[in-house]
Amino acid sequence: MPKLSPNLDLLRGESAYEVLARANELEAQGRSIVHLEIGQPDFATPEHIVEAGVRALRDGKTKYNPTLGIPEFRKAITEHIGETHGIEVSPHMVAVTPSGKTGLFLIVSAVAGAGDEVIYPNPGFPTYEDVIKLSGAVPRPVRLSETNQFSFDLDALRGLISGRTKLILINSPSNPTGGVMSEEDLRAIYEVIQDKDIWILSDEIYSRLVYDGLVRAPSIYSIPGVADRTFILDGFSKTYSMTGWRLGFFVFPKEFETRIDKLLVNAVGCTATFTQYAGLAALTGPQNDVIKMRDEFQKRRDFVVDALNAIPGIHCAKPRGAFYVFPNITETGKRSDELSRVLLEDAGVALLSGTAFGAYGEGYIRISYATSMENLKVGLERIKKAISVL
Ligand SMILES: Cc1ncc(COP(=O)(O)O)c(C=O)c1O
Repeated sequence: MPKLSPNLDLLRGESAYEVLARANELEAQGRSIVHLEIGQPDFATPEHIVEAGVRALRDGKTKYNPTLGIPEFRKAITEHIGETHGIEVSPHMVAVTPSGKTGLFLIVSAVAGAGDEVIYPNPGFPTYEDVIKLSGAVPRPVRLSETNQFSFDLDALRGLISGRTKLILINSPSNPTGGVMSEEDLRAIYEVIQDKDIWILSDEIYSRLVYDGLVRAPSIYSIPGVADRTFILDGFSKTYSMTGWRLGFFVFPKEFETRIDKLLVNAVGCTATFTQYAGLAALTGPQNDVIKMRDEFQKRRDFVVDALNAIPGIHCAKPRGAFYVFPNITETGKRSDELSRVLLEDAGVALLSGTAFGAYGEGYIRISYATSMENLKVGLERIKKAISVL
């Protein structure tokens, strides 16, 4: 039998999907499971966005469109970036993609290859490591530690940089920690790489899901001098509750438009046309649904953090972004994967081991609060009970 590329054997996948599959199996056996593993908002896509998508289909917007996106959508994205980052970008610097993940894959393959090294956060979004491996580059994890509010440890970062470092991935607010990097942290990271030929990929997919009065998370892109070497990665899944629409975009330095166009024309041709009209309505229409969702997430975060801190053996920092908390479970005496397995199999709570996000996630579990307050109450009660009898 012919063999598949050995590159595929390097991939780890995403454990959220595996946990979900096991939880579904248990549910099929009649078990009650509270789902705290899923990284998607539990809200419906706002009605005016759905309407715009449906209208586009009815209006016959069912054909191919320009590879980098429909012009009015690219323009709306540049206006959005201008408003949120305080930097003027042109539509020639925007690529619309069928999901943030596709953008991530394309940017890493555009920048890195065999012989290069790519630095990325650990614990971090599992796709980073897999995408780096697929590009042929060597993944270099930088540890995010709780003592440092899950921001980059600058000494660790300096120690990882070599003549082969090609790209550094930043994700704020972070999956899985929910941590938001301060402008000061971001400046410090830039200072470390300023005089080196290193690209930056700033994954800002959760940038508008921030709490405690923040309007959006600070971006490294806004620091003078950074834009020329930085890609912003963003998408509509989280901010507008559009995970199933598969719509994202990225911003790149202007001189690469032709080459990025060629990359996308080969990889995807173009992004679905009707979803772009929906995205246009999302960006240019009323934002009150985003604000409502954010306020609800903040209430849930406060509830979850307080409930976790009331459980002996668990300590949970209060993160300022995304919809995840990353409690420290070391005092329970269990390893992260053991505890998450016990909580799923015995207590009926699906959540993720910190190690699903890399080896430095040992000692933590990830809980998504993108589910109803009722579910959170039941889930936290079950966790408390299960931990009390360990
Ligand atoms: C940090 C991070 N980046 C990117 C993505 C990709 O999102 P999507 O492909 O739905 O746009 C996710 C999704 O979970 C994420 O957590």
